[in-house]
Amino acid sequence: MSRMQAVAARLARPGIAGLRQDAETLTIGWADGRESRFAAIWLFDNRPDGRHGPDGQRLFDVAELPDEVGIASVELTGEGDVAVTFAPNSVATVFSGAWLRDHALDPASRAERRLDKHLWDKGLAANPPTAAYAEVVKGGRALADWLAHIRDYGFALLSGVPAEDGMVCRVVELFGYVRETNYGRLFDVISVEKPNNLAFTGLALGNHTDNPYRDPVPQLQLLHCLQAAEEGGESVVVDGFFAAERLRREAPEAFNLLTRYAVPFRYVEKGAVDLRAAAPLIELDSEGDLRAVRYNNRSAAPFDLPEETVVPFYQAYRRFGRLLHDPAAIVSFRLGAGDLFIVDNQRVLHGRRGFGKGRRHLQGTYADKDGLLSRLRVLEASL
Ligand code: OGA
Ligand code: ZN
Repeated sequence: MSRMQAVAARLARPGIAGLRQDAETLTIGWADGRESRFAAIWLFDNRPDGRHGPDGQRLFDVAELPDEVGIASVELTGEGDVAVTFAPNSVATVFSGAWLRDHALDPASRAERRLDKHLWDKGLAANPPTAAYAEVVKGGRALADWLAHIRDYGFALLSGVPAEDGMVCRVVELFGYVRETNYGRLFDVISVEKPNNLAFTGLALGNHTDNPYRDPVPQLQLLHCLQAAEEGGESVVVDGFFAAERLRREAPEAFNLLTRYAVPFRYVEKGAVDLRAAAPLIELDSEGDLRAVRYNNRSAAPFDLPEETVVPFYQAYRRFGRLLHDPAAIVSFRLGAGDLFIVDNQRVLHGRRGFGKGRRHLQGTYADKDGLLSRLRVLEASL
């Protein structure tokens, strides 16, 4: 089901067709035939009056709950809500029917709450998620739409950002906060005499996620073009989740190896910086869904693996690397002065083709995704 369908399904929430109860469980039969079970302890912990106002913080600790929580009685109210009296203390409360549906724990309800990942390949180039800075800067719908692109695709373009120093940080301030690092509040991507990072040369950069040697890793990266190279320097992006799902399908053993073992990453500037972090190249959430991808062979440290795992791990790693550079998966484009792109650095890899002649100048910065998603939710609720 698409996200739009999921949202529509929830707006028109089915009502309650029937209630059943035993000492430990409330069972609701919904008008659409779905059935959801709610444990007494879960209901007691989530009772609306246990909070400091609607959506407020909980007023007690879970350790303070009674050892035995049961349900004494349940009743459907005239408004389609559920009145519950708990045992043994006869605490009574009313749960909204819509709230119960939105938080139901049956498999179909849980699946409905998962975000559709909108996996993409080179086909995205026909209609890349994009917006104009002049619109987005006004906030409201235009900003919400642009932020939703980033949530859904892990990638978006922004055109017409004034090609001025520091504007990349101003763009972050539209939705969140700059994440400052040893590279500064922002960093200049130019080719320099004695580069400490290959990004600061004219060399091509293979597809990668940035700064895997940090924990936590920067979740969003922005690159803003102040001056394009005369020749070359095109940008490349690829959906790491698309490649990871392909690996899971085509080579499940390889996929498992990459989720199971952490890879150490390191970045050193002598006398100044020694950053290290270890994490799996493919990270799963508790449901086995993709959570994050890290890929950056430039800063991978020697793998620290059981001896017998080294060779199969390299096979898996190389296979994933080929999928991440597959021409059928990548989208490439040329940033002109004033163009910017943003990636979800835990999903979408970026790279660039080499450039020779002329000066090229990009400015980059990082930000966190939780702030962006928070801003998006607040905007969507107000629109
Ligand atoms: C970077 C990077 C790409 C480019 O600075 O992290 O990947 O187009 N740069 O220069
Ligand atoms: Zn990079």
